[in-house]
Amino acid sequence: MRVAFLNPSGQMGGAEKILLDLLLGLRAKESSYEIQLVASAEGPLVVRAGELGVSTTVLPFPPALARLGDAGAGGPAGRQVDRYTLIGRALSASGATALYLRRLGALLRKLHPDIIHTNGMKMHLLGLQARPRKTPVVWHLHDYVSARPIMARLMRAYSPRCSAMITCSKSVAADLRELCGPEIPAQTIYNGVDVDVFSPEGPTVDLDELAGMPPAPKNVVRVGMIATMARWKGHEVLLQALARIPADLPIRAYLVGDALYQTDGSQYSIPELREMAARLGVEHRVGFTGFIPEPAAAMRACEIIVHTSTQPEPFGLVIAEALACGRAVIVSMNGGAAELINPGVTALYYRPGQPSALAACIIRLAVDEELRARLGRAGRAAAVQRFDRNRLASQVVPIYQRVRAAEAVLSTDKHG
Ligand code: GLC
Repeated sequence: MRVAFLNPSGQMGGAEKILLDLLLGLRAKESSYEIQLVASAEGPLVVRAGELGVSTTVLPFPPALARLGDAGAGGPAGRQVDRYTLIGRALSASGATALYLRRLGALLRKLHPDIIHTNGMKMHLLGLQARPRKTPVVWHLHDYVSARPIMARLMRAYSPRCSAMITCSKSVAADLRELCGPEIPAQTIYNGVDVDVFSPEGPTVDLDELAGMPPAPKNVVRVGMIATMARWKGHEVLLQALARIPADLPIRAYLVGDALYQTDGSQYSIPELREMAARLGVEHRVGFTGFIPEPAAAMRACEIIVHTSTQPEPFGLVIAEALACGRAVIVSMNGGAAELINPGVTALYYRPGQPSALAACIIRLAVDEELRARLGRAGRAAAVQRFDRNRLASQVVPIYQRVRAAEAVLSTDKHG
């Protein structure tokens, strides 16, 4: 079996972590598989896939195609980009897209895969358009399609040609069914985490030092938010929550992460968030560490991990990771994130975009070490049971087999 994976980035976001976990699992369990990765840019994803023994090709998106995105068009947290601006951009990118499709088509003809597995919105569409000889395409969805006005239309139009769809949560599957019809071949496979790396015991990092802050007092309770800088991840909700926490409660928050994606207008910058923190008068209580390569060590350095997305979270990998680290987790209860926790047992939760409710959860945990420990133990047990990444490849392989068997029947029909 030859599988070509197409990824619309070379950076390591959540979707790319899962891709690497899947590649690792396939290498371990299916030694006869020939695995190829095509990424749209150089970056750590390509390096790490290469280290796993996967043959990789970088076929760079032209800049106009790389910047194109309508993710910021939906929610209240994003900078509003109107539909016509988006369509204008799409048209200006269309020449670049046509050229890219020709190159991708030529590359795929050379790689000659049995299955094309696409791991992101742009590649779902490009993969179907560029595939040689109707090679079956499997979409692996990590995002809500309906939140993106232009993509939604295109995805609906192309969905009948897609052989199988994997979604990272039931909530993403429901969104896709709503858009493309109840009969689509969608199956949910929950993301996995490395429960040996994301574990309660292990090295930690000095968050104060990384954030350039003076050492915190001994009794401080550390609250971590680990996220890309996408606006809908809700950094402002945490900053506003901090402003509502009494000044004498020894709390320090750390925003871990950096701008990652190339799409226009969809991200915060650290200076922008620093300014917001200063306006809210919480700059002394919050540190910005930038990207930290060992998120598990950053999580272990915190007592509390918060998730603050203001729009429905397709899955929320950091939630599963923080549970596996045995931390006390607070979840913005919406979308796939709601499927990951047992409310009140493995994590606390609040309504998305409500800084006061988040502040109340933080205060509750900050003053109750016993509650933190109880959530941490239950969260760890649940994560080991539900989110061990070793499960991924064994769930995906039957899908490939089914798709290939269906393809064989179709081609006998055509030729026989
Ligand atoms: C995307 C989603 C996130 C999910 C990740 C992996 O980044 O936004 O919720 O955890 O993909 O599926």
